[in-house]
Amino acid sequence: MQIKQALSHARSQLGASESPHLDAELLLAYVLGKPREYLITWPETVLEESEQQAFLQLLQQRISGYPIAYLIGTKGFWNFDLKVTADVLVPRPETELLVEIILKHLDTKKHLVADLGTGSGAIALALASERPEWQIVATDSSQAALNLAGENAKNLQLKNIEFRRGSWTAALNGKNLDAIVSNPPYIDKADMHLKQGDLRYEPVQALVAEEQGLADLRQIAAEALDNLKPGGILLMEHGYQQGEAVRHLLAQSGYNEIQTYRDLAGLERATLARR
Ligand SMILES: C[S@@+](CC[C@H](N)C(=O)[O-])C[C@H]1O[C@@H](n2cnc3c(N)ncnc32)[C@H](O)[C@@H]1O
Repeated sequence: MQIKQALSHARSQLGASESPHLDAELLLAYVLGKPREYLITWPETVLEESEQQAFLQLLQQRISGYPIAYLIGTKGFWNFDLKVTADVLVPRPETELLVEIILKHLDTKKHLVADLGTGSGAIALALASERPEWQIVATDSSQAALNLAGENAKNLQLKNIEFRRGSWTAALNGKNLDAIVSNPPYIDKADMHLKQGDLRYEPVQALVAEEQGLADLRQIAAEALDNLKPGGILLMEHGYQQGEAVRHLLAQSGYNEIQTYRDLAGLERATLARR
């Protein structure tokens, strides 16, 4: 089987995927250990039998819905590639919005910033790489996630980041923070999307929260008041239909300057508030 035949076969099988062309290329490039451009430059190269077998096996897993990032072990976020495993949520492009907002709100002086529920380290590592003068604390309740995030920090040679295990702000030791950012679990356990596509394979503790998905957002909002400096900011990602509820719970906790931001699809995606 030639490269172009393998790609065409995979595309026709991946009809249910949102991005059959990209998925096919990522899987084949991964199997061959080459960049994607290689596939375009050498379409008539014949695959070795072992390469063909490995490719067809991965293709089958992808057809059954297993996330592409878990199959190839990496996911692009911000301007780097992160190692990902089934222990962590696959970082989403819309989460880059949180990085942009924090960078806009804090200057380049020394600041102390926490990323609660860091997963693969996506938000924390983007901030640490953009602002070497800041000190970043990245927390998670999952040791497996922290191990992976630590590995990603090492690969990116980022030193201004500290990892701590604990539930939400308990890991912070009452630090006087300039900003707290979090993309917590916010999906309602009855949400039918949990039974579809990639979500079926991601860690449930990274996805699901009680109270129609609002429990962790509420808890973080309440706890963060004790950890932020006066005037410090809290920024949380949430579901596109949760904007109003999140603004309400932030107001109830006593925050000021509450503002919701929309993602590139125009959906309410993150809300910022000031202590
Ligand atoms: C939606 S994922 C976000 C991961 C990463 N920040 C990102 O944006 O890709 C939520 C993360 O919160 C962590 N988490 C869940 N409950 C937690 C808790 N009580 N305390 C700290 N982290 C928690 C999960 O392990 C998971 O890594």
